[in-house]
Amino acid sequence: MDIFSKKLTNNSRYNVLSVVGAGFGDEGKGKVTDLYASKWAEVVVRANGGCNAGHTVTINGNKASLRALPSGILSEGVENVICHGCVINPIELVEEINKIKKIVNFDIKLHISDRAHVITEYDIQLDEAFGKSIKTTGNGIGMCYADKAYRKGLRICDLYKSNVEIAKKLSETMSNITVSNETFFQKLEPIDVANKLKQAFEVIEPYICDTSVLLNKYIKDGANVLFEGAQAAMLDNAYGFYPFVTSSNPTTAGLSTGSGVAPYYFNNNIGVIKAYCTRVGEGPFVTEFNNELSDEIREKAHEYGTVTGRPRRIGWFDCVIMKQGNRLNGYSSIALMLLDVLSGIDTIKICINYIDEKGKVLESIPADANELYKIKPQYLTLPGWAEDISKCKSFSELPKEAKNFVETIEEQINIPINIISVGPDREQTIFRD
Ligand code: IMP
Repeated sequence: MDIFSKKLTNNSRYNVLSVVGAGFGDEGKGKVTDLYASKWAEVVVRANGGCNAGHTVTINGNKASLRALPSGILSEGVENVICHGCVINPIELVEEINKIKKIVNFDIKLHISDRAHVITEYDIQLDEAFGKSIKTTGNGIGMCYADKAYRKGLRICDLYKSNVEIAKKLSETMSNITVSNETFFQKLEPIDVANKLKQAFEVIEPYICDTSVLLNKYIKDGANVLFEGAQAAMLDNAYGFYPFVTSSNPTTAGLSTGSGVAPYYFNNNIGVIKAYCTRVGEGPFVTEFNNELSDEIREKAHEYGTVTGRPRRIGWFDCVIMKQGNRLNGYSSIALMLLDVLSGIDTIKICINYIDEKGKVLESIPADANELYKIKPQYLTLPGWAEDISKCKSFSELPKEAKNFVETIEEQINIPINIISVGPDREQTIFRD
């Protein structure tokens, strides 16, 4: 199968592909989006989250961390769009742009929504103070989205105003936050915050536009448009393990509302998941295990947060969250990442059901996080494989136990696994029909 062919399977007229996280984030979306961004996409779009996302890429021997910028920024000629559903820290964004400009030898093509909300230093300080209980990434994401919901947020279009007017708006926003905010005002004068934002704005101003209009035009003109989801289904603000979630909707529907592109176009949707499960931050994690094997997996796969450096918690593959994610996202296929990490493990588990305290199989994931802590996983135990699979180029080359693992997951979740990653390089990828 030529997955990079111009026409996608599920939609004959338009070439829109979305890639979303199917677990708790950090599934390796970066590798999948990078593959499509470099070989297929003409436009790459971010439509949710902010600099809480992050993946590291190597280009011309230089390592770059992409946090707010779409993956297409590293490919010449590709248009990159940051939509209104994202929250933007202009100061960080300018730093990121400057770093990228140093390592690529072409003019970057970037478009930033005039409706995106601005993360300010106040949001970051508030996040540091109040995000600890769920271990947020500390980037002010939740606070910025809260300002937005409160209808008091500062938006990119506000940065056209004078420094004094921006400072006034910042004071108004802060006065609406229902916590004692005096501490923050003592530390940060609104005019100082406004001055720094205005400086950053001068760098990003040429990129600002109405990105919904732009994207709809690209799509109707037949461009290959890749939507790059940030975070993942199980961090969804409504259907993740609330309150241990992010503040946006990291689902396919979230990409639609976050971009101003109608749901109609989102027919081709890849869910990305690891061959085992990880999560950072607090919250229930039904298939988590803590022993020598989890330490081994963490070190082998370097399971530490790209943005925060925090060690990731390790668990077994979880079909229950895959089914929940599929209900939200409607995956047309799955990309199964880091299969090579499981080589050398005697027996491998797959969680197929959640069992409650009375021993009953749950039909759905409970809304209350306290209930989730009481759940036990029901596992299928499969034989592992000893062979190094990192050089396998096709499905048929995999050991029979690895094939069995992949096919068992497919049977359980009833979604085809069309991409299997067996190592970090682009070449270490198996494509299946
Ligand atoms: P926030 O998005 O920084 O507000 O953090 C809320 C929750 O989402 C925390 O548990 C974070 O660890 C988690 N989170 C946010 N972004 C990511 C990500 O890109 N990967 C994994 N976890 C994330």
